[in-house]
Amino acid sequence: MSGKVLVDTSSVKAIEWKDNELVLLDQRILPHKEEYVSCTCVEDVFVAIRAMIVRGAPAIGICAAYGVVLSAQSRSVFSDEAVSAIERDIEHLRTARPTAVNLMWALDVMLEELSEERRGDLSVEILLDKAKQIHSDDIFNNLLMGELACAVIGKLEQGPSSVLTHCNAGALATGGYGTALGVVRAMWESGLLERVFADETRPWLQGARLTVWELEKDGIPVVLNVDCAASWVMKNKQVKWLIVGADRIAANGDVVNKIGTYGLAIQAKYHGVKVMVVAPSSTVDMQSRHGEEIEIEMRDLREVRALSGQLISLADVDAVNPVFDITPASLVDFIVTEKGVIHNPDALKMNELFGV
Ligand code: MRU
Repeated sequence: MSGKVLVDTSSVKAIEWKDNELVLLDQRILPHKEEYVSCTCVEDVFVAIRAMIVRGAPAIGICAAYGVVLSAQSRSVFSDEAVSAIERDIEHLRTARPTAVNLMWALDVMLEELSEERRGDLSVEILLDKAKQIHSDDIFNNLLMGELACAVIGKLEQGPSSVLTHCNAGALATGGYGTALGVVRAMWESGLLERVFADETRPWLQGARLTVWELEKDGIPVVLNVDCAASWVMKNKQVKWLIVGADRIAANGDVVNKIGTYGLAIQAKYHGVKVMVVAPSSTVDMQSRHGEEIEIEMRDLREVRALSGQLISLADVDAVNPVFDITPASLVDFIVTEKGVIHNPDALKMNELFGV
């Protein structure tokens, strides 16, 4: 580490615990409306995650942890029945979305606080402290990853480079600062960034609606392109890096991320663009031996037939809507986590860093 003080320079605050409620920036209606939704019970949090009021792997884990606090807040005493009810709420929250492992990870951390050994000390304050710690650790990890990634990029590049990113792996998708966009912020602050090309990211338009909004807000140069222009952008716009986040990384280094990432990694290889995946260790799932073992979320077909609610095809056309895909480890140049950087990931290197 350089020893420099790490500061969250992002102006976006999408998740806030305020007056015993979880307050979320509603990501369904950005960038045209900035409105907040208050979650006052566990079901509100479940709905917020499922309906994508909040989205992004680390962000949904953090919100689920606050959801456990809301569940505890609704009980007056921590009887065995009350603890069992909180445990049932935890199991319910786990089912909100299937792919991002940060959700399960954060709920497991909260579940530990309910264990027999700790039960005597159990209180809402203890659970709230734990949820706040998950939140602040996530921001700190993002800052660390930004620094680690810049050390790698700084060694390989002579001057500022252009980056292509997909989906939104920014402050909106995390506790703050961002994973892939955390690296983009750190590059910008270190003079390593020329500009960011943001894929629109059909069907939910995380790139067009969220990445563009959050980078513009912080004065980082961003150019929007449609998804199918990615090869053209790589070829004609001197893109040196494809930098993305992840929803789950398997034990062999396969990366599950937003649909389209797999295709982008293939295009990047062809064009000599380096592929960097940035994710905290809470995204690593050493129980899944490879990407094919990970459940890919399939969402409503109306998201494909329509664009922002406006029908663009036949209302009843058959469609398919996988919202994540698997990028084989062999297409990834670097995996950056707060625990360190893996170059050309494989099972052996993953095990060295994340094995127990
Ligand atoms: O469906 P989403 O918007 O929750 O998907 C998010 C992504 O795929 C992100 O790239 C990933 O979660 C990393 S966010 C830091």
